[in-house]
Amino acid sequence: MRNEYTIFAQEVCLEASKILLKFYGQLSEDNITKKNKHDFVTDADKSSEKLIVQRIEQRFPLHGIHGEEFTSKQAQSEYTWFIDPLDGTTNFVHGHPFFAISMGLKRGEQLVSGVVYVPILKEMFSASVGQGAYLNNQPISCSTTKIIENSLLATGFPYKKAEIERNNLSNFNKILPQVRGIRRCGAAAIDMCYVACGRYDGFWELWLQPHDVAAGTVIIEEAGGLVSDFNGGKDYLFSGNILATNKHIYEQLKNNVC
Ligand code: IPD
Ligand code: CA
Ligand code: CA
Repeated sequence: MRNEYTIFAQEVCLEASKILLKFYGQLSEDNITKKNKHDFVTDADKSSEKLIVQRIEQRFPLHGIHGEEFTSKQAQSEYTWFIDPLDGTTNFVHGHPFFAISMGLKRGEQLVSGVVYVPILKEMFSASVGQGAYLNNQPISCSTTKIIENSLLATGFPYKKAEIERNNLSNFNKILPQVRGIRRCGAAAIDMCYVACGRYDGFWELWLQPHDVAAGTVIIEEAGGLVSDFNGGKDYLFSGNILATNKHIYEQLKNNVC
């Protein structure tokens, strides 16, 4: 049901969540630094990443690690972790409870394990390749919605939305009139898990990075969904463009994003 990496990542996410919860609602200006105008990093992000990296290094010293904030460790084996120590930092800073810890593991070219933990809701999403996807140890699967008109979707917008042309607003304007609704809750890893458990029928976003999507991808694929870049290829980790849906509405959504 779960490989050793998934079991390990679940334990580490639970430990990291205790750090996040200590900071939640308690952040002061001294705990927050600006990466860009609207992009922050907090002591919660940093402490969580430090703990996760320590735990991986203790248990799997040869594994590579890419953490969002400060970690870039080359692998000395086939395994590399993609870590988002706090997905949904803007929410976290504003006391909005939609935030998570995300750990995805790649072996060679294949994603083999993914864990996303949402501390406030106590929801643990997990998947091991070939062994299904789970929410709090109960099996989950993508929705059966067949047409985009009946779908509830999710998306997000990049921090540099004011500076770039491809800021996703044209996709949003095109898709919104065609669907039941589009949610923008500010944590891509959770958005993807919501596709995996059928709460959303699909998700797309631009400018994301591997730490945002690695774990969610395994979880969606193991839940019977489809994940690709906007061209229908498999470069969703590094191209920044990701499209993730149940198996029915994939082509319908793909025809609408660019
Ligand atoms: C962000 C969130 C958000 C998405 C941003 C991401 P962060 O991650 O996932 O939903 O729209 O593009 O960067 O910065 O909170 O880890
Ligand atoms: Ca983050
Ligand atoms: Ca993120």
